[in-house]
Amino acid sequence: MTDNTQQRCRTALVTGASAGIGKDIARRLAADGFRVVVHYRQRRDAAQETVTAIKAAGGRAFALGADLTVDRAVDALFTTLEATLDGEPLDVLVNNAGITADRDDPAVAARDDFVAGISHVTPETFDELFAINVRAPFFVTQRALPLLADGGRIINISSATTRIAWPLLPYAMSKGALEMMAARLAQQLGARGITVNTVAPGVTDTEMNSWVHEMPGAVEALSGMTALRRLGRPDDISAVVSYLASDDARWVTGQLIEASGGLCLAPAMGM
Ligand SMILES: NC(=O)c1ccc[n+]([C@@H]2O[C@H](COP(=O)([O-])OP(=O)(O)OC[C@H]3O[C@@H](n4cnc5c(N)ncnc54)[C@H](OP(=O)(O)O)[C@@H]3O)[C@@H](O)[C@H]2O)c1
Repeated sequence: MTDNTQQRCRTALVTGASAGIGKDIARRLAADGFRVVVHYRQRRDAAQETVTAIKAAGGRAFALGADLTVDRAVDALFTTLEATLDGEPLDVLVNNAGITADRDDPAVAARDDFVAGISHVTPETFDELFAINVRAPFFVTQRALPLLADGGRIINISSATTRIAWPLLPYAMSKGALEMMAARLAQQLGARGITVNTVAPGVTDTEMNSWVHEMPGAVEALSGMTALRRLGRPDDISAVVSYLASDDARWVTGQLIEASGGLCLAPAMGM
């Protein structure tokens, strides 16, 4: 960050911060000194709990809701954000909100996708995944750019599934598309000192992965596939985001950092 940003409160917008990884990114960035915009889709109470916890720890935060697949909701979010910033810039945008499958439709829940692969994927599921995982961060970033400070940060949350040939096919495809943003935007925005990077978590213990606790042996199996021998925690991911948002990462841009504890580093050899 440039020196003049040290004099004012820096602001970070974290999408999908009502739960899981986004919630912990919000907590961590607030602990780092950012005023955090805790974005949510429908779980307003959960987002408000995050805000309350941040404030109780001495930080600054407020919640803003929007379904990021609805253009007018994105417009309303940025209208409110701009008014709240009151002429101050946004310093960090974390595009975290995402889904593995349409969780409102039990027929396409993540576990079925994992087992069945391409055969059960409907056009509706495919479109929903791309709407939230690709289209939303693209247009959120477009809307955020005029507000973003020179020297600011854009951090996109992808997934280690872009490297590992697990089923989750449309999900991995959507995250692959998201990963294309970093290097290209980094090149475009470098003249403004804005860095653009991607963090790719492995299996992280959040609501998105609640199935691992329901499927007997899944925690042990996934831990066994991981070099560091456990599931990831949201704070494993927020630590990397914190680094990328910090001045220490000023020379890192256009990069993909996988934070998976070494998931599937070696081929399975029955050892
Ligand atoms: N957990 C993992 O193992 C894992 C692994 C690799 C990558 N990731 C990625 O990490 C990110 C966070 O995952 P998570 O496990 O923390 O997920 P999560 O616990 O299911 O939380 C998802 C968040 O996204 C928001 N969201 C969902 N649909 C939205 C929409 N249409 N518009 C706006 N917000 C929406 C949700 O808001 P509401 O709750 O208010 O609806 C929630 O805050 C995702 O991009 C995911 O793909 C996760």
